Parts: sequence; C-alpha cells; structure tokens
Amino acid sequence: MAVTPLRERLYRAYWEFFEKAERERRWSVFDDIPWEKVNPGATDDLALCAETFCCVELYLPDYLTGAMGVVRSSFGQSWFQANWGYEESKHALALGEYLVRSGKRTRDQLHDLHKRIFSKRWQLGYATGLEGTCYGLIQEMATFLIYVKHRAEAAREGDECLRTIYDYIARDEIAHAHFYGDALRVFLDEDRERGLDALTHVVQTFQMPGVDLVPDYDARILKMRAAGVDSGVFLQKAFLPILKYAGVTRDEIRGARARLKARAAPAPVTSAR
Ligand SMILES: [Fe+2]
Ligand SMILES: [Fe+2]
Repeated sequence: MAVTPLRERLYRAYWEFFEKAERERRWSVFDDIPWEKVNPGATDDLALCAETFCCVELYLPDYLTGAMGVVRSSFGQSWFQANWGYEESKHALALGEYLVRSGKRTRDQLHDLHKRIFSKRWQLGYATGLEGTCYGLIQEMATFLIYVKHRAEAAREGDECLRTIYDYIARDEIAHAHFYGDALRVFLDEDRERGLDALTHVVQTFQMPGVDLVPDYDARILKMRAAGVDSGVFLQKAFLPILKYAGVTRDEIRGARARLKARAAPAPVTSAR
C-alpha cells in the first residue's frame, strides 16, 4: 500500500482536530462561564496561581510568531496554529476577567500586568517544525496536568467560576497535546530515528514557557508546586503518557539519548603517525 505523503497526513490530522473542536469543544467566555459563582472569599494563593497561568498564556503573540515561523509552509500545521491561537486567546481573557471579577485584582492592575508581560519577548528555542511539534506536545501535556490539578484546588475553595474556567482550558490543552502527538506520529513514520532524536533533544532541553520572563516567577512556582505538580508528577503523568500516545518505548528514548551523546562528544584525537 502506498504511504500517504506527509503533507496529506498532517492535513488529515488537522481536519480531524478541527472537526472535533467545532463539534464538541467550543465554549464561550460570555455564555459558558458562571461568573456569578465566583468566590471572593477564596484564598489569595488561588488568585496568585490564576494570575501566573494568565501571565504564561499572555505570551500568545510570541508563541504564534515562533510557531508560524517554523510551520508556515505546512497547511495542516499552520492552520492548526491559527485555530490554536484563537483557543489560547480565550484562556488569558477568561483568567484575566476572573482576577477582576473576583475582586482580587483591579482592572488597572490587569492592564499593568499586560504591559509588564509584553515588555519581554519569549522565543521558541527550536528551529524545525518537528522540534516545535515535540515542544508543543510536552508543553501542552504539562499545562493540561497543571490545570487539572488546579481545577481541583478551585473546587476545594468553592470557586465554581474558576473551576469551570480551568475545566474548559484543560479540555483545550489536552486536545492541543493530542494534535501535536498525532503530528509526531506522522513524523516518526516518515523517519523514526530523526523523530526520536528530536523528541529526546526537546525533552532534554525543555523549559516551560514563562520561566525567567513572568514577573516574580520563582515565588509563583513555589505556590504552584504546593498544588502537587513537581518533576516526579511530570514524569509519571506527562512524559510517560506522551511516549504511550506517540507509540515510543523508553528503550527507544535511551537509544536516542546515546546517539545524541555520541554526536555531541568531541571527535577522538588520532595519532599523526
Ligand atoms: Fe492555554
Ligand atoms: Fe494549549
């Protein structure tokens, strides 16, 4: 049987992603968030975490610039980024409104936050669509995990408004992770070794967006960890599911790690004799 060309398979992956998004996953910041169920008595930590997620979501213009730069010539991937940008734009919008409507921040403080965020630029540290796909997969899976954890925190604090926001966002993030996972599977079928090496390289160099950019990041991350998202959780709940979804074994990752190490090692000095 003829192998479906890369472009057609990526197009199909986007078509399926978009159909599901349109039919099952659309939500409205106007109609679907129970704004009246915000709990103004919730702790300041709950608002601080929501503000931190809002900060990370606010680098949207930079994420789009970075991603479009590496996938522009691939229809499936660039149309995904366009739709992705629309979905992500609602995340920062809903979280920002939550901060104001809960009374935890004023509108002036929110605009000041926007200004501070936009004064620094995030840059994608990878140069190819394949590496960008691996980065997106890990980042979306980790983000999904974080929102699920904090959805439980919001429920525990009796904030039905924030719980609902986290619920919609988490559903979006896992759908994004699955698109990147589907795209990675296509790349792996094209050239398995290249795909494995890219995934391993990105895993080894991965950094969540916002690190070193979001104001007071270190203090914020302590509060996030208190909700139970640390590197052990990341391994079990994000990394291993990623491998499973992409159909990659841990042995294959070990093999790729050895290849990358050998490639990075300086060439042996040979005798002149
Ligand atoms: Fe998001
Ligand atoms: Fe996302």
